[in-house]
Amino acid sequence: MGDANKVKQRIKQLRETINHHNYRYYVLDSPEISDAEYDELLKELRELEAEHPELVTPDSPTQRIGAPPVEAFGVVVHRDPLLSLANAFSYEELAAWHKRVTNLLGRGQFDLVCEPKIDGLAVALTYVDGLLVTGATRGDGYRGENITQNLKTIRSIPLSVPKDAPPRFEVRGEVYLPRAGFKKLNEERAKEQLPLFANPRNAAAGSVRQLDSSITARRPLDIFIYGLGWAEGKAVPDNHWESMQYLKSLGFKINPNIALRHSLDEVEKYHESWGQSREKVPYEADGIVAKVNSIALQQELGTVAHEPRWAIAYKFPAVQGTTRLLDIGINVGRTGSLNPYAILKPVRVGGVTISSAALHNEEDIHRKDIRIGDWVVLQRAGDVIPEIVEPIVSRRTGKEEIFSMREKTWELYKQRKGISGKEEPPDYPVCPVCGSEAIKPEGEAMHRCTNAACPSQALERIKHFVSRGAMDIDGVGEKLCQALFEAGLIKDAADLYYLTKQQLLSLERMADKSASNVLNSIKASKARPLARVVFALGITHVGEQYAELLAEHFDRIDNLAKATEDDLSTIPSIGPKIAESIVAFFRQKGNIQIIEKLKKAKVKLEKGEVEKVGEGLVPSLPLAGREFVLTGKLDSFSRPEAEAKIKALGGKAGSDISRKTSYVVVGTDPGSKLAKAEKLGTKTLSETEFLELLDKAVGKLQKLSSP
Ligand code: IVH
Repeated sequence: MGDANKVKQRIKQLRETINHHNYRYYVLDSPEISDAEYDELLKELRELEAEHPELVTPDSPTQRIGAPPVEAFGVVVHRDPLLSLANAFSYEELAAWHKRVTNLLGRGQFDLVCEPKIDGLAVALTYVDGLLVTGATRGDGYRGENITQNLKTIRSIPLSVPKDAPPRFEVRGEVYLPRAGFKKLNEERAKEQLPLFANPRNAAAGSVRQLDSSITARRPLDIFIYGLGWAEGKAVPDNHWESMQYLKSLGFKINPNIALRHSLDEVEKYHESWGQSREKVPYEADGIVAKVNSIALQQELGTVAHEPRWAIAYKFPAVQGTTRLLDIGINVGRTGSLNPYAILKPVRVGGVTISSAALHNEEDIHRKDIRIGDWVVLQRAGDVIPEIVEPIVSRRTGKEEIFSMREKTWELYKQRKGISGKEEPPDYPVCPVCGSEAIKPEGEAMHRCTNAACPSQALERIKHFVSRGAMDIDGVGEKLCQALFEAGLIKDAADLYYLTKQQLLSLERMADKSASNVLNSIKASKARPLARVVFALGITHVGEQYAELLAEHFDRIDNLAKATEDDLSTIPSIGPKIAESIVAFFRQKGNIQIIEKLKKAKVKLEKGEVEKVGEGLVPSLPLAGREFVLTGKLDSFSRPEAEAKIKALGGKAGSDISRKTSYVVVGTDPGSKLAKAEKLGTKTLSETEFLELLDKAVGKLQKLSSP
């Protein structure tokens, strides 16, 4: 054998040995060699690869170390959407779910798989011809971020799978940070005076979304695979339990505590026993997941509103504690809402220190009869904001004060303005920031400041504008927004785009380099997709999903701004409340001025053929510009599933046939739409033709998204 061949052989051998030990250590938790011996093997491989770079392969164990930073993550379109789960918080809710399933299936006996619900971050891993090619976050369920490099640093994720695995498949799982790793990470951050992560889930999410994968590599992340997404080219088990065993045989890390159960009672027992032993496992579980085992039954049950009917998360009861309510504060939100919150004597509940809790509104405080000075029962469920359950009436001394929005807001306003007089408050609540009257609109629970120019609202709106999910302006956080606002350098979000370096440098503690970074991030945000801009504007009731829908429908902000309530209510799922709020937003002169300023600054306010997400260029999706209308019943999937697929591939799903309709998909028992299509001469597709078209589009997409 020649030298070159010998090297090749040795490299192969080293990789196999290292992979084997990786698997023993990271997946099975049962190492066979010492860390030093392992390091020795890795060192030899690294040296050989350095001498022979032509022999480096993407699945070599040396490739886990972390690649050079990427500008921003690209987008991955999920072939099948990643769903979320409905919750049950009590046995009654679990039983109600079980009954629904029983009724839908027309039978009471079906197996269920029970698994711990890990509190981490969902990811999808795609393998093609034995290699890990893509790792993505869940994102909005249809499109996630491409975080392949980062996921490759997690040792329990196989970079390659055995030859007999399906040629193409996707697995899904939860990336998490074990409790000990979380604690250590926060200790290190405390030493470096960095902000601490609130819980292991946030820490895990923050770690995998690092642009520099060498940072991810240093975080002790782990994964549990909890399902097979899809597979092609080879038959896979027809039930969840066996598919989990199958994935285990391919080298994936499966939670050892998953169990096959046969009845509702057995699920309840599983939940109970987990509730008791959850502290003993090294990771955070906030409940169990029960899944119908048979894939055929899963398909029969289908999904509603992003949630499968065949699975449910059955949460563990919340952890409770008691403490004193020292005072009630009030924040003014970006829509002017006055949000009361509890100022608590700090207390540890379920391993987390809690010093404040949401109080919702005045009515709620009175309904629960919570008084300032009370001892209260606090509860924390998962990562939900802590809540006051009830006051402990038996511990009252008589000195407790009943909360009044009118008196409290006046007191806070006076404090802020440094007014000391003892004069009576006005006979209405005021905004604690600007002193204007606050009103409680008919049918609403919240008080709102009536001053559209209220500085607190303006600042909150700017903070929202720069936040993740909105314009995501890196390096411009809440503190910087506040500093810029207080220095009078910005009055609204659009002013950010007119900042000069000089102005930034006039702020305290702003160095030349950071000022340049800030300006670069602001500039980069000009290319955000339209949906982000719509969300960033902070229109009351318009969250990320509605923003997505509006951007999809209107193509450009000017069209949205011109829309009437009638126009808006033709969009499915936009109700009168949202329509009214959108119209009211664009009626305000101040908001139109902001949009004009954004326009002048060349912020993208329309949908482009090529959407830029982050800094990565994403080619337009294969079905972009094509509108589908479905009629009749399809055999392969339910209507929402079909519509989800069309949307994930960039197409539109309409409800009425018009000149804009590209195709009418005709299932069995089509309605009157078929006749209309024929009249208008719209192209029709049979279900088979539709499936072919989807397949082709998926193929195109994979070409587009492969590097
Ligand atoms: S199954 C349709 N199994 O919980 C099934 N999810 O609240 C959807 N999760 O997005 C997921 N442990 O990130 C499943 N054993 C488990 C899980 C699990 C944690 C997460 C997952 C999902 C979220 C839904």
